[in-house]
Amino acid sequence: MSQENAGQNLMDKLISLCKQRGIILPGSEIYGGLANAWDFGPYGALLKNNIRQAWIKHFVTSRDDMVLLESGVIMNSKVWEASGHIMNFTDPLVDCKKCKKRFRSDHILEQRSLEPGYAKEAPVDWSTMRCPECGGELTEVRQFNLMFKSTMGPVEEEGATVYLRPELAGGMFTDFKLIQQANRKRLPFGIAQVGKAFRNEITPGNYIFRTREFEIMELEYFVQPTAWEKAFEMWLGVMKSWLKSLGVADNSLYFHEIPEGERAHYSKRTVDIEYHYPFGLKELYGLAYRTDYDLAQHAKHSGADLTYQDPETGEKFIPHVVEPSMGLERTVLVTLLSAYHEEEAPTAEAGETDRRVVLKLPKHLAPIQVAVLPLSKKEELATVAQALAQDLRQKFTVEYDDTQSIGKRYRRQDEIGTPYCVTVDFESLNDKAVTVRDRDSMKQERVKIQEVREYLKDKFGS
Ligand code: GAP
Repeated sequence: MSQENAGQNLMDKLISLCKQRGIILPGSEIYGGLANAWDFGPYGALLKNNIRQAWIKHFVTSRDDMVLLESGVIMNSKVWEASGHIMNFTDPLVDCKKCKKRFRSDHILEQRSLEPGYAKEAPVDWSTMRCPECGGELTEVRQFNLMFKSTMGPVEEEGATVYLRPELAGGMFTDFKLIQQANRKRLPFGIAQVGKAFRNEITPGNYIFRTREFEIMELEYFVQPTAWEKAFEMWLGVMKSWLKSLGVADNSLYFHEIPEGERAHYSKRTVDIEYHYPFGLKELYGLAYRTDYDLAQHAKHSGADLTYQDPETGEKFIPHVVEPSMGLERTVLVTLLSAYHEEEAPTAEAGETDRRVVLKLPKHLAPIQVAVLPLSKKEELATVAQALAQDLRQKFTVEYDDTQSIGKRYRRQDEIGTPYCVTVDFESLNDKAVTVRDRDSMKQERVKIQEVREYLKDKFGS
């Protein structure tokens, strides 16, 4: 199988597993769907939330130089004028004159550059370029603004034009001074947030990799003008340790120093962390040095004083900013891809094996941490199992499952990445113990019912 086919195969398998198990579902499906819109089902919502909480812990609450913010999706439109998004937040677009499909011209060039003999530096004559889908003639390149527009107020004609935020940074800059003063923060310090962003992408796709509605986890780290390089290296290290904590292998990552001319309009240095997805090497996260561009722009456009006064030297200046920015859906995707395993495993029948799919998710991210599985639905077992499940719920996310054979139940829990299954059998009524099965090693251990909670706390390191 070619590398491309193997990649497609893995994506197909993951997408199908996620749909079957209620992890990620096609959005609005009963109405024929909505292009590239995905819903996070019961397990997906828990997984996503665990990642969000782990991110907040890793980047904010485990440090004393970070605070959290939750600013609005809709902001005063002057924010986007000042930040340059109304002018510059565009993608280059071409239309096919024949099939009417739209493409990002840079993506077409990216594809062309892989062809033998293609001269990358030569100026592009778009009249010679053809539609990648139907071979039709393409229009000239034009710039397309990615922000979703809406109107605020009940009467459309009289309402003010507003935008759904295309990134979260705006809120951190407009609230910078209020937070710095109210929370008595000294440089260097950062403001972080996690939340929805919206971009009218020309070519969304590759599952949850590029969608029009997604979540960003990002922070703005405010520093003295001369201190940005140190902060840049520090955050690069924190991002690396974060990726390790998700189970992402080092060799699936590529650190791409973005050259001048290709960086966003506000950035003096950007490193894109790229990932070898099954559909190619593409961006996962970004780390940018934004200089004092944003605060200076907002000070100019709003008239507010956004300078900071050093309490020791008395010096006044506009802080510079280092910004690590991470997509939540891309994080979910690489976490799932890293966790997805297929392997030969013993069945309940002695000496037999079959192929099992298992999500070897880091334990703290698993949507269900413990499954309680009574061997039979009989009341005497159900009473013990239900009481145990209720006890464990005080500490863990627990699923109670008493349907189908125990082998099928184990496989179902493997497929959603549940680290531990606790089986209550008839012997439990006598020996007051249960069997705890480890997802990865599939080893089983007999543990006293009274000790199960402590046993699992130990396993989770909590
Ligand atoms: N404030 C900087 C900023 O927004 P960005 O690289 O444009 O930077 C941040 O976006 C992150 O959001 C990216 O690194 C990526 O992980 C994610 N992202 C960007 N566009 C996305 C989309 N259309 N769908 C899903 N995730 C996206």
